[in-house]
This record gives sequence, C-alpha cells and structure tokens, in this order.
Amino acid sequence: MNTSRNDSMHLAAFALAGPVSGCHGGWRHPAADTNLLSAGYYTRLGQLLEQGRFDMLFLADILAIPRRYGNSIDSQVRLGALGALRLDPMIVLSIVAAATRHLGLASTISTSYFDPYPIARALASLDHLSAGRAAWNIVTSFQQAEAANFGLTEQLDRNERYERAEEFLEVTCKLWDSWDDDALKLDTQTPLFADPAKIRSINHQGKWFSVQGPLNVSRPPQGRPVFIQAGASGRGRDFAARWADVIFVTHSSLESAQAFYKEMKERAVQHGRDPDSLKILPGIVPIVAETEAMALAQEDILKGLTDPEAGLSTLSYHLDIDLSAFPQDEVLPDMDVPGVQGHYQEVAELTRKRGLGLRALGHHYGIGPLRDFVGDADKVTETMRTWHAARACDGFMIQVPYLPGGLENFVRLVVPRLQDQNLFRREYDGTTLRDHLGLARPERS
Ligand SMILES: Cc1cc2nc3c(=O)[nH]c(=O)nc-3n(C[C@H](O)[C@H](O)[C@H](O)COP(=O)(O)O)c2cc1C
Repeated sequence: MNTSRNDSMHLAAFALAGPVSGCHGGWRHPAADTNLLSAGYYTRLGQLLEQGRFDMLFLADILAIPRRYGNSIDSQVRLGALGALRLDPMIVLSIVAAATRHLGLASTISTSYFDPYPIARALASLDHLSAGRAAWNIVTSFQQAEAANFGLTEQLDRNERYERAEEFLEVTCKLWDSWDDDALKLDTQTPLFADPAKIRSINHQGKWFSVQGPLNVSRPPQGRPVFIQAGASGRGRDFAARWADVIFVTHSSLESAQAFYKEMKERAVQHGRDPDSLKILPGIVPIVAETEAMALAQEDILKGLTDPEAGLSTLSYHLDIDLSAFPQDEVLPDMDVPGVQGHYQEVAELTRKRGLGLRALGHHYGIGPLRDFVGDADKVTETMRTWHAARACDGFMIQVPYLPGGLENFVRLVVPRLQDQNLFRREYDGTTLRDHLGLARPERS
C-alpha cells in the first residue's frame, strides 16, 4: 500500500435543505436548530463551513416525499426522515452564495425529469453569481413517487435513465461552450455588448433532446460546474468515470472504500483521464467531542433519538423495496434491488458481517454511515488520516449528525488538528471550487 502521498484532503459537507443531516434523529437533538425554513439557517451554515475552510456545501435532493415504506408518506413526515421536506437546493445555494466568498456550492439535480436548457442556464447563473463556485450532483433518480410527480406512470428503467443522463450532459456541455470565453465585450463606446461571431447555436438533435441554443448566459467562470456523481451500479460507475470530478459514496468499511477507490481510479484511466482529476469522497458521520466519553454519550443520545422505522423507511425508498412487508427480526435477504446500488451494497455488507435483523438494520441506517468516526478530536483525526493514507479516499463528505452543533464541533475540534498535520488547508489558495479541488478549468470543446 502506498502511503507516501503528501497532498491534503478535501472536505465537503453533506446536508439537505430539510430535517436530516447525518442522522435521522438529529433534528430532535437539543442543540439542533429547527429553524430550517429560514434563510439564516443556511447562511450561518455556509459561513461556518467557510470558517472551517471546507471545499463545498453539498445539498442532496429528491423530487417527491417517498412513499415506498407501506405505500405511505406517513413514516417519512411523522418521523422527519430523510425525504420528509426539501427546499429547492438551487434557491438555498443562491442565498448561501451571497453570504460567502470561497465555499463551493453543490446542488443535486436530476437528469431524468428536467430538460438540459434550463438546468445549464441555472447552473451557469449560479456559477457567475458566486464567481466560480457552482457544482452539480448529477443524479438519475430512482423513485416511482418522483415519476408520478412528472406525469409518468412508470419511471424510466436504469439503462434508459443513464442513456438520458449521457445525452443530458452532452447537451449541457455544448450549451456552456456555446459562448467563447471572451464573447461578452460590454464595450459601451462601439457599442458591442457581445460579439455575435463568438456565440453559436448548438443544433443538437438526439434521441432524448432537440436543442437549438445558444445558451442565453455567457460561458461560466469555471467553464462548466464541477460534476459530482454517486451512482454505484456498473452503469453508474462507468458514467462517473467518464464525467465526474467528484464521487460521493457511502461504505460500511475501510476495505470496501479502498476497493472502490482503486476500481474508480482505474476506470478513470480507461477513459483516458488523469486519475487525480477524479476525487473520491466517502460519506462519514463524525461524532466528536472534547473527550471520548463525551462523544460516546452523544452517540447514545442520537441512538435514542433515532426511530428504527425512520431508517427502514428511508432504506425502503433508497432500495425501492417495501421493507415493511418483510419479517422485521430477520436479516435482509440477498436480492436484486431496483433502487440505489450503492446503498444496497453498503447494507448487504453490514448484514453479512453483523447479521443485523431488519429493525436493527433500520436503526443503524437511520444513525448514518460508518461508526468508526466517533471519539475525541485525536481519534477522529487519526481515523481520517488513516483512511486518506490508505488510499480509501481523497477526502470526506462530512455528514454531521445534527446541525449546526455537530458541525461547530467538527470545525472547532477536528479541522485545526487536520491543519496541524498538514492534512488540510489553513487558507483557500484560489477563489473557484475548481481551484480548491485542484481541477483544471475545461477548455471549450
Ligand atoms: C451516497 C449517495 C447519495 C445519493 N444522493 C442522491 C440524492 O441526493 N438524490 C437522488 O435523487 N439520488 C441520490 N443518489 C442516487 C444516485 O446518484 C443515482 O441516481 C442512483 O444511485 C441510481 O444509480 P445506480 O443505479 O447507479 O446506483 C445517491 C446515491 C448515493 C450512493
């Protein structure tokens, strides 16, 4: 194993514009802020992350309240589970953009339910207004409930979703490239607002989309937003190896993280890419406090606040399987799941290793991925260092168990230790998210 790498980690913060961060009971924590419909909640979060020199804030998103568990939204909304409420992430990030100067701003947007033109436009707008800090978490979506909100009786099958996603990406890239970088002149004397010779139609005709172009927004500061992807099926991995700048993934062990890291870097090379241009950030739920005992006590509080039904309800929609119909004390059987392969692989590994019955699995899932990051700052820092050195990741997607307290603890206790060990930046070197991630700005193609 090569542990000689001296580059530093990348840190993203996973959140939702809704009730859950890393833990399904988190919104009930005594130090959680339940003001999650206010602008101040998100600007404060952004400012805290910038103070901690994070690369970016990542907002997950879905387009329906899940109803996979018992064919009802009851468990999600009653228990404040992962899908209970979501503000539109692009609007939330616009507010955060105005309150911060360096923080990357990542929005989840589905390629299955929108058209490329308005999405290319919205992301170019965010990139301009934030001076080069926009990122797109590209998802293909996986819930029947989402299809039902967009006039469809059946969602597209996985292959069709990825086929549509490929073409969606091709079209958005053509649109961002439809203006030369120097097309906007703003020459008040001539006058020449923008040079028509440097702006062109794209005339895209494909299976899924027909788009004339050009975009009505000039080329974004980053050329195009940073692309994030989390698909873990074979098709999803291939898509990520071709397109993603960052991969977000959850694992239940260091070993599976290492295997995934190695595989994805190799896949990137097969696509003719520099493996370092693909950053892999596993999600972790750090529970950190001044002492180990205090962190364990925090973990106990969170366990007590997490209802197994909330976790099972979320796992049901992630796997697209109604788990309320299975015997609750028996283990999850091996199966082909129509939903998210990454989440299935994570819980299947857990079931194999720990033999958890379904209710216990739901409780575990509700608390959040990977329990190795609970302890005092030294322990959490050391575990992060070990993962990074063992080439299991290029950094982490931090999913604190409650907001903003969990993040305040992380920024106050862990970030300075990472900085002392030269594992994390003390100051931002550049201004754009690509700068923070060490990624080149794509040329126009
Ligand atoms: C860690 C992780 C986070 C994800 N976050 C979202 C999300 O916020 N919204 C969404 O619609 N899909 C999300 N997904 C789903 C995927 O991005 C992808 O659309 C889905 O996994 C289907 O692809 P697959 O079959 O290749 O796994 C997530 C998946 C993983 C593994």
